[in-house]
Amino acid sequence: MEIDRRAFISSLGGATAVGLMTHEDRADALEHYMMDKLDEQLDGEAGAVLQQPGQGGGTKYPTVAEIEAQIETRGVRRGAGSLFAARPGTNVKRLPPMPDKPTLVDFFKLRFEPANHVLQSANRALKTGMSEHIILACLLHDVVLNLMKPDHGWWGAQLVEPYVPEETSFAIRYHQTLRFYADPQAGYEYPEMYYRTFGIDYVPPPHIEATYKMLKNHKNYMAPRLVTVNDLYAFDANAKVSIDPFIDIIGRHFKQPKEGLGNDNSPVAHMWRTIARPDSPL
Ligand SMILES: [Fe+2]
Ligand SMILES: [Fe+2]
Repeated sequence: MEIDRRAFISSLGGATAVGLMTHEDRADALEHYMMDKLDEQLDGEAGAVLQQPGQGGGTKYPTVAEIEAQIETRGVRRGAGSLFAARPGTNVKRLPPMPDKPTLVDFFKLRFEPANHVLQSANRALKTGMSEHIILACLLHDVVLNLMKPDHGWWGAQLVEPYVPEETSFAIRYHQTLRFYADPQAGYEYPEMYYRTFGIDYVPPPHIEATYKMLKNHKNYMAPRLVTVNDLYAFDANAKVSIDPFIDIIGRHFKQPKEGLGNDNSPVAHMWRTIARPDSPL
């Protein structure tokens, strides 16, 4: 793919900042940048980079009709989970085998790619002193995008519901809806990236509008709202993200089934098996 050199350097904080990076950091940053640009081309939500005007993104946003007209230019529908769609110009990769009794952390390490976005969100929640239920929600809020993208709030909550506190699954289910509605008092603006992803004249569908009406006066409104506040797309090349700071929080609040996720006969076990074995033909 073509790299806009100026946009890349400015995304890292300018030439001086790049000069201070080691060779390895620069190579890593370039790889992440390319991954993010590719994600953006796929129009996936996770990992997309918010481009500021003048940083290569421009200020012209597509209309809904223009986005619809792109449907037949793709080999993969926009809603396909990341595990099921090769990035443009590449083939899918052979996946590492899963252990016999996979844990949530195994899924993070072996199947959730890129997990960078959710780890950055959870890091922000951790640093700003949010509750562990909300930190866990941030950590898990988009992992279902590996499986399915449309209505990912509902799919994502369903995927983890048997294992997490009610507040956490509530936050995951409804963050998708609240992403479309600004709440300046809570520190959340409508994302500029959505003008590119959905179109400048996009109106959320009726089920999202109805859900927003329900949430506005709900006593747990702030749980999904806090997920949106941490749902940033800033590309911080120096952010070293890891699952390690969250191991204890997972241990305290995620009911890991002893048989392994996918083997526990829960109502969502098949979803975990599908993520574990996306190459299975049936
Ligand atoms: Fe999301
Ligand atoms: Fe997100």
